[in-house]
Amino acid sequence: MTDAISISNAELRFGETAALDGVSLTIPQGTCFGIVGESGSGKTTLMRAVLGLQKLDQGEICVLGNPLVPGRAALKQRASFIQPIFQDPAASLSPRSRISTMMNEVGTVLREPHAALFERLGVILNRLGLPQSVIEKYPHEISGGQARRVAIARALLMKPSILIADEPTAGLDVSVQGDLLNLLQDIRQSDNITLVIISHNLAIVRLIAENAVVMRSGKVVEGGEVGSLFKSPREAYTCELLAAWPSVTRAPALNR
Ligand SMILES: Nc1ncnc2c1ncn2[C@@H]1O[C@H](COP(=O)(O)OP(=O)(O)OP(=O)(O)O)[C@@H](O)[C@H]1O
Ligand SMILES: [Mg+2]
Repeated sequence: MTDAISISNAELRFGETAALDGVSLTIPQGTCFGIVGESGSGKTTLMRAVLGLQKLDQGEICVLGNPLVPGRAALKQRASFIQPIFQDPAASLSPRSRISTMMNEVGTVLREPHAALFERLGVILNRLGLPQSVIEKYPHEISGGQARRVAIARALLMKPSILIADEPTAGLDVSVQGDLLNLLQDIRQSDNITLVIISHNLAIVRLIAENAVVMRSGKVVEGGEVGSLFKSPREAYTCELLAAWPSVTRAPALNR
């Protein structure tokens, strides 16, 4: 089967900083994949490159076997099968538009009639535990946790094959974090979505992902199946990251 995402030798500099320094990895379809690393290691840059929002200096990124070609049409096409949940979802919601306006834009992109779109949206909001009334609100009228779920709802409304979430639990309290991870896991299994979780928190990746890579200074320093990766890491850096986080056990709902 074609890989969901395959990255070969991605290089990207910001002046003196090598944000991506020869990154290669593959993410099989239908799996949950974690990208971990300390702040500044290149995780968000890699996500932006995968989305086609950041041009590589060298290397290639294929999404479902397709390399990104220049131009707006190609960007739009990529957005139709890969959807992001950004690090700061509140900032990615337009402050002057009601949530309904933002959802309507998805209908325009998909050319889906309003009634059908809002019927699907109703189901998604329910599943995310959001009240239907949220669609009439402006972003400043909802909480941070609700904003994150609204961002997820918008992403799901696009019917993506791949969901890529940057620090999806940042800024949420621990019980909401657990709910959100369970929810992402449920969605992945029921909709057969490939889920990419970016986090500096190894505990989260260990809990939800099957495979992961560890990034440092724009490089992948090690990778593999999360059980063995975090049980017996080869790299001192991975040990340091692990030591920085308390150990977690899998939640019962996530047992595989
Ligand atoms: N637009 C930019 N201009 C200049 N430097 C940038 C830009 N975006 C990222 N960088 C630099 O590239 C490196 C990687 O940044 P990136 O945001 O990808 O890290 P990250 O792993 O996502 O960190 P965090 O965990 O804090 O979100 C950092 O050194 C950062 O300062
Ligand atoms: Mg980041």
